[in-house]
Amino acid sequence: MAAHPTTSFPVMTQHIAFDAIARARLPALLRAMPKAELHLHIEGSLEPELIFKLAKRNGVTLVYPSVEALRAAYAFTDLQSFLDIYYAGASVLLHEQDFFDLAWAYFERAAADNIVHAEIFFDPQTHTARGVPIEAVIQGLSHACRRAHAELGISAKLILCFLRHLSEDDALATLDAALPHRHHFIGVGLDSGERGNPPEKFARVFAKARAAGLHVVAHAGEEGPPEYIRAALDVLGAERIDHGVRCTEDPDLVARLARERTPLTVCPLSNVKLCVFAALADHNLPALLDAGLCATVNSDDPAYFGGYLNQNFVETFAALPRLTARDAYTLARNSFEASFAPESDKARWIAALDHAFAHA
Ligand code: HPA
Ligand code: ZN
Repeated sequence: MAAHPTTSFPVMTQHIAFDAIARARLPALLRAMPKAELHLHIEGSLEPELIFKLAKRNGVTLVYPSVEALRAAYAFTDLQSFLDIYYAGASVLLHEQDFFDLAWAYFERAAADNIVHAEIFFDPQTHTARGVPIEAVIQGLSHACRRAHAELGISAKLILCFLRHLSEDDALATLDAALPHRHHFIGVGLDSGERGNPPEKFARVFAKARAAGLHVVAHAGEEGPPEYIRAALDVLGAERIDHGVRCTEDPDLVARLARERTPLTVCPLSNVKLCVFAALADHNLPALLDAGLCATVNSDDPAYFGGYLNQNFVETFAALPRLTARDAYTLARNSFEASFAPESDKARWIAALDHAFAHA
């Protein structure tokens, strides 16, 4: 008997009676289906309650008098208005234990959302700029990843993001400081304010990261133009594009992304909170799927944007009735195919996904 192929997935889709799945059953199915999260900033999972707890523990003074007052400030007009409050919130993170507690809180929520694999962004420069040693950041997060695997069965990996509003020299110094801890992270990414900070600015640091064998992803086409998506691919060597929703302004680019099966890590609730789309009903996720793109659904900064991964799925499907059970399957399957996990893990998760849909 032939051995199981390791490079192609067991294709069971044709045995799933998607059309027989009633729309009323979709929310439960969206919640129950196994899924991967590929676009999650761990600092963006810092809930107001934990901000206040850590502020007290670490003697940090906050400008907001209460959890409610802080939450009330979460009314954003664009990416920068969010980033200002997001970096302020992260100022309570000082010690290795704080980073562990932050990530562990996310993993408990991830387990409840049936996330079986997570590739998590962290922003070391947000912390090293305040004097926090990079070791405290990486060790605390990595410890939580190991424990998530051991105790929750979640496969969890870290991706180090460079802040694009800072200089490339700062990013290079960060990479040099992180490389001794190379075994704790699988890739590098690019986040923070997109406008005026094109991917080209970081050509050298991404070349160095690629040479170190790291995976490469980059935020592009959230607020920035389609040219930033092209530059992320061509200059940085990005294997996935984070957000990428503005690609639809450039049909040639859409055709290329479809042809090359470049995954897009789409974040619907984030896009509405940051006014990329006026409402979920206006989101272009259906158009991305229609174009044959490898789109995925993710939560980005769930503590700030109104929900974790299952909330993103359920609210997006409720707002866009043209999304079907087959689309739910496709999005979850894409999340596994787009991940950097070993092929054997992908095949196992996709088999579990098939099972969830075959018995829906
Ligand atoms: N875009 C850019 N930078 C970020 C984001 C985002 O959505 N979230 C956290 N940092
Ligand atoms: Zn993001």
